[in-house]
Amino acid sequence: MVMNAIINRKSVRKYSEKPISDEVLNKILEAGRLAPSWVNVQPWKFIVVKNQDTKDLLSLASGGQKQVKTANVLICCVADLDSWNRTNFGKVLEQKGLDEQTRESIVTSKLLNPSTLGEQVALLRSVEQVTYATAYMTLEAEEQGVGCCVVGATSNELTNLDESLAEQIKTKLNLNNRQVLVNILALGYEEPVIQAKKFRKTMEEVVFHECL
Ligand SMILES: Cc1cc2nc3c(=O)[nH]c(=O)nc-3n(C[C@H](O)[C@H](O)[C@H](O)COP(=O)(O)O)c2cc1C
Repeated sequence: MVMNAIINRKSVRKYSEKPISDEVLNKILEAGRLAPSWVNVQPWKFIVVKNQDTKDLLSLASGGQKQVKTANVLICCVADLDSWNRTNFGKVLEQKGLDEQTRESIVTSKLLNPSTLGEQVALLRSVEQVTYATAYMTLEAEEQGVGCCVVGATSNELTNLDESLAEQIKTKLNLNNRQVLVNILALGYEEPVIQAKKFRKTMEEVVFHECL
């Protein structure tokens, strides 16, 4: 099942007018919510965008990418750096039933809490977790027959392409300065349906075995 979704998934950039139902959208969001993350920190927020003005702004900030404008729904995948702090990280550790001393040792550990290594590391690791969630959502979208395209080329703190647009987006999405838009998942039913060929490096190019 998973392998079928992996094989069949492709980036879809042209969509029909057919709306995505809330039921289907929730399944896609649920796949993101259930994704694995570093010590289960879940440093993500998924902001559902249906408003055309917001889509237009996000498209503009993404160099005018049309699929952002014309998608039925956008899911803005956001990294929340505050997820690593004592209160928020502590809360997920408490859910696991860990005692206070163990929780404290994890939250202050340089190995287990990357945010103790500084802002850049916290950002890098947060982006890593959000990427997992995004990937899970692309596979569930495929499973639901919904086309999608990950859009990473956008103005944000990672690209510094257009600070003014990035600021406008933060305001529109109600993000604070610890919340970073990592990517936008554009969703819609594909039209026209295109038979896409997968261009990938060969197994020989990417898989290596240790020398024995
Ligand atoms: C992190 C990430 C960022 C991407 N950003 C963009 C983007 O900004 N615009 C776009 O059209 N496609 C974007 N893509 C889609 C890739 O171009 C696409 O996945 C790749 O060419 C392989 O094609 P496929 O998805 O159809 O298999 C992105 C994909 C990923 C994983």
